[in-house]
This record gives sequence, C-alpha cells and structure tokens, in this order.
Amino acid sequence: MTGQVRGVQLARLLGQWHALPGRRRSPDYAALAGAVRGLLADGRLPLGVRLPAERELAEALRISRTTVTAAYRHLRETGHLASRRGAGSWTMLPGNHRVASTGLWTPLDDQDMIDLGAAAPAAPPQLLDAARAAAEDLPRYLGGAGYHPTGIIELREAVADGYTARGLPTSADQIMVTSGTQHALDLVLRLALAPGGSVLVESPTYPNALAALAGRRARITTHGLAADGWDSDLLLGGLRQTRPKLAYLIPEFQNPTGHLMPAALRERVVAAAHAVGTDLVVDESFVDLPLDGTEVPPPVGVYDRHSRVISIGGMSKPYWGGLRIGWVRASAPQVQRLAAVRVGVDMASPVLDQLVAVHLLAHADAIVTDRRVTLAAQRDALLGALAQRLPDWRVTVPRGGVTLWAELDGPVSSALARAAEEVGVRLAPGPRFGLDGTLERFLRLPFTLPAADLVEAVGRIAAVRYDLDRTGRQRWREPTVIA
Ligand SMILES: Cc1ncc(COP(=O)(O)O)c(C=O)c1O
Repeated sequence: MTGQVRGVQLARLLGQWHALPGRRRSPDYAALAGAVRGLLADGRLPLGVRLPAERELAEALRISRTTVTAAYRHLRETGHLASRRGAGSWTMLPGNHRVASTGLWTPLDDQDMIDLGAAAPAAPPQLLDAARAAAEDLPRYLGGAGYHPTGIIELREAVADGYTARGLPTSADQIMVTSGTQHALDLVLRLALAPGGSVLVESPTYPNALAALAGRRARITTHGLAADGWDSDLLLGGLRQTRPKLAYLIPEFQNPTGHLMPAALRERVVAAAHAVGTDLVVDESFVDLPLDGTEVPPPVGVYDRHSRVISIGGMSKPYWGGLRIGWVRASAPQVQRLAAVRVGVDMASPVLDQLVAVHLLAHADAIVTDRRVTLAAQRDALLGALAQRLPDWRVTVPRGGVTLWAELDGPVSSALARAAEEVGVRLAPGPRFGLDGTLERFLRLPFTLPAADLVEAVGRIAAVRYDLDRTGRQRWREPTVIA
C-alpha cells in the first residue's frame, strides 16, 4: 500500500475498531480516530499515505459521514492527519515522535515504558573492557585511510574461525563485515535480487527483513510455519512451485517463533533450492543462543555444493546491537561483488567497532555462556508469569533465541498492543510479522529484559486483556458459505 489507501482497504485494516477497549465511554468518532492512531502506531498504516475521502470511508464502514468527518477532525487536532482543501488528508505523526529501532513510532517522553517491542539484550559487562582494548589497538590502523570494504582482516579471520568451528570450513576471504545483520541482508538483496524479484519467506518472519524486501519491491510468497515449525513437504513444494529467485530463512531459533530447523530439512532445502535455481539467504542471528543444552544442527551452508547459500549473522543478539557489527559468509567472488556494491552504499564499517568485536569474540565462551544462563532464567520467568496470569494463552517453549510466540485466546493482538501502550508496555503485535494483516491471534514476547520487568509487563498485559473482554469480546466469525 503506497500513496493512497482506499475505503475498503482501510475498513479491512480497521477490523473491529468499534470493539476496542474503552469503547463504551467514547463516542464513535473518537473510537474511529483511536483505531486509526493505533494502525499508525503499529506500522500497519504508513505515514504520508492519503486516506480515503470521508464519504468513501463512511460507505465502507457503513457509518454516517458526520462520524468520519468528526474522526478526521479529531486526528487533525492530535497531529495525526494533515489536510489540504480539495487535495485530501495525509497520515502523519505529532512532532515529538520518532522512529524506534523496531520500526514502531515511539514518544520521546516514555522512560517508564517496558519495551517488549525490541528483542535485543543489553550489552554484556565485558563490553567496556573490549572497548578499552580496542582503543589501544587502534594505532595499528591509524596510518592507513581506514576504509576496509570487506572488513578488517582480524575480524574476518575471527568470524571465519567461528564458522570453521561449527563444521563449515571458511576462510577470511569468504567473509565480509557489515554494519549489522540488517545491513548484510540489504547488501545481499542489492546483489542477488533485481527490483521486483520473487522471494520466499517464512510466515511469521522478522519484520525488518520484510522492510528490506519492500525496498527491493520484492514479490513475496510465504511458507506458513506450523505450531511445531517448518512443514517439509509444503516448504519444498513451495520452492518447486514458485521457483523464487531467493528464499530468506531463519533456521536457528527463528524470529519470532523460536523454532530450530532439523538437519535433515536443511539438507533437503539446499538440494531443492539448487534444483529450481533459488539462492538461499540464511539469517543466523540467533545461532549462538541455544538454551537448555540444545544441540544446534550443522550450518545450512554445510550442505551447499554450488554457492547457493549466503549466510548472514552478527554481534547483536549474543553481544550488543549498539555495536552495529554483522557479516556475510559467501563464496570469495561473491564477497568481492558485495564489496563493490557496498562502495555505493557506505564504503566500509567503522574500524574501532570492528576492533571491539574482535575482542568480544576472543572472549566468546565466557560472554555467551553467561548470556544463555540469563536468557534461560528470563524465559522461565516469562513463561511462569504467562502460565499464572494468562493461562488461556498457548506457548511452545523456545529452546533458544530470545523470543516466544504466544497464541492468544482470540484475534486481539493489535487491540491488545494498543491497550498495553496505555499502561506502559510496548508490544509488537502478530500482524507485524506477516504480510497481510493476519496473525492477529499471535503476539511475540521477547525475554531480553530483566525477569522483574517481564513479570510486571505480563501483569499489566493481563489487566488490559481482561478490559478488552469487558468492552466486548471479539468473536471468531463463522466462515460464510458462498454457494
Ligand atoms: C532475524 C534477525 N535478523 C536481523 C536482525 C538485525 O540484526 P542487527 O542488529 O545485527 O542488524 C535481527 C534483529 O532483531 C533479527 O532478529
């Protein structure tokens, strides 16, 4: 959806806007304006998009035009809509808002917000020592210009050694250092996907990957993950039928579901992809974070004989997102081509940050072991709070990563996120992890915050969940039979 949203489209996005919390106390126009604000807040309605004319929306919603007129006026007053006579009305946000790393729009003045929108841990205590050691190393680089399009050699070697230790022999010339995994994905897409190219992704998947794909105007097909992970027949069948140019997969502790792809399926996916000419972009963001002693299968690249697999990964989940260090593992010629693409984007990653990464990787065992222990305890605290306060929700215990994917007791994820924001909890509702506004029955909950915050957040979510009930429980609609 770009430029303009039509009445029927907005009506579909709004869904059951009249059944939102607090509804009984507020008039129709205020409820409608609140629902539009909610869509803007969770990113489902873009900024700068032209809303339908009042009459068109009134018809689509089967309400009076005066209600829409009043709702638009209200949105103008709160700074969410700009109108020009004769030209229309565009979505916007009030001046004191900014974009958060999650893609959600966040007020600046919300220090007390418990942010469950971002699934990323705070820095480990060892980071400061690594930064000091890096500063001492820096003079070795100061004599040169400082541009290293594929990364400084010591970091490329450290990353390559990590792959080799995982059973995938890798040399430094197969590694390109990037400014985060997201950057790695963007560069790979620039290289491997022509604008408008076809891509297969998991559903649900990582929202910022969808944003990167949207940047290439990719034509996306999805493989719907089941409650227990990938369905091999459907995934392989999907590849064979749609023959996408590229498939983007998160095989280790998938974001958001936490699923781990078994070795046998990895092998079959690589074979099927090669047979139909699909390149696989494998996002290994969470590979270092198995919990409960879970064994991680060999990297997908182990099964690759034809340079079909490009792996991407980074420091953000095991170490710290603020470092902005990631990488690509590909064939040496592909790395050279990526470096050429990168020259037109950002030239190279900061040397100092790369040196910090080198020092962190030198202490990987200690840092990552601590990380896993903390994450397992936080996950268990979250699961305990959910079992106690929201016993109707269903969760599969993730054996790694940083998120769990809760199946709610109704299609209320967006409404719940809006209500939770009011009580100081930011949530990423299910539809953000898909393409078409579905997944309303699901909610991603990260366990990257301290246990006490997670327990407090669940208490607040539970309270507003029951408020939603009081204001009119959302029911499943019976499927309509068209004969
Ligand atoms: C699957 C996945 N890929 C990429 C990223 C982005 O990571 P980075 O901070 O390294 O850019 C994330 C962060 O949440 C992620 O979950």
